[in-house]
Amino acid sequence: MSSLDTTTLAAQLDPSDPAATVRRALELFPGETLISFSGAEDVVLIDMAAKSGAPYRAFTLDTGRLHPETLEFVERVRTRYATAIEGAFPQPEAVEALVREKGLFSFYEDGHEECCGIRKVEPLRRALAGARAYITGQRQDQSPATRAAIPLVQEDAAFSADPARPLLKFNPLAAWTSAQVWDYIRAHDVPYNPLHDQGFKSIGCAPCTRPTRPDEHERAGRWWWEDATRKECGLHAMNLPPGSRA
Ligand code: ADX
Ligand code: SF4
Repeated sequence: MSSLDTTTLAAQLDPSDPAATVRRALELFPGETLISFSGAEDVVLIDMAAKSGAPYRAFTLDTGRLHPETLEFVERVRTRYATAIEGAFPQPEAVEALVREKGLFSFYEDGHEECCGIRKVEPLRRALAGARAYITGQRQDQSPATRAAIPLVQEDAAFSADPARPLLKFNPLAAWTSAQVWDYIRAHDVPYNPLHDQGFKSIGCAPCTRPTRPDEHERAGRWWWEDATRKECGLHAMNLPPGSRA
C-alpha cells in the first residue's frame, strides 16, 4: 500500500469512532493485524476487537520489568475475552549482557534508550515480523510534546521489515481523550489495571513509572528524570523528529 492509499484510508476513518477503526484494521488484513496491548487503559482496544466479530490477535511486550499487577491484569484480560495474548520477550543474552555490564537500573544514570531498546524495541520488531498492520492505544492527549499529531493510520517505516510491504500502524484512539476512554471502560464494564486506582494514569515498566498528582500530566509519571520532549521509548519512534529517532 502506498502513502497515497494510506491517505485515502485515513479519510475513510472516523476519529470519533475508534471501534470502527479497530474493525477496519482487523478486516483489512485478517490474521495479519496485531493489537499491541500494554496492559493499561488500551484494554478498550481488546474490548472493541472482541465486539467487532473479526478474528484478532494481541501481544504484550513482557519486558521483565512490568508491575505484577500488570501481569495479573493481562492474564485477567486473556481469560475474560478468551483470547491468546502473545508474550513478546527480550533476548535473554542481550538482557544478561546489559545487567552484567551496567546493573539493573542503568537507565537512571544514562537514559532509558538502551534498556528499552533491548526489552521493548527489539522484541516489538520480532513481534511484528510478518504482520501487515498493528493497532496501538496511542492518543494525542497523552503527550503534547510527542503525540499531538498522531494520525488514525500511518505507515510505520521504523518497524517495517520490508520496504516493498509497508507496515500500517493504526491508532484508533488518537483523537479520544483520556476521559472518553474511561467513559468507555465504565459504560462497557471493561476490566482495568488496578494500578489506575493507585494514582497511575500512564503505566509502563515498574522502575520507570510513578503515580502522578491530579495537577500533573500523565506523562510526568514516565521516565520522570528525563526531558519531557524525549519521553518515547522507541516503540513509537515515528513520534520523534527523524534526526532524533533511536
Ligand atoms: S510507551 O512507548 O510510552 O511505553 P505507552 O505506555 O504510552 O507507550 O502506550 C502507548 C501504546 O503503545 C499502547 O497503547 C500500546 O499499544 C503500545 N505499548 C506500550 N507498551 C507496550 C507493551 N509493553 N506491550 C505492547 N504494547 C505496548
Ligand atoms: Fe527498561 Fe525502563 Fe524501558 Fe522498561 S521502561 S524497558 S525498565 S528503561
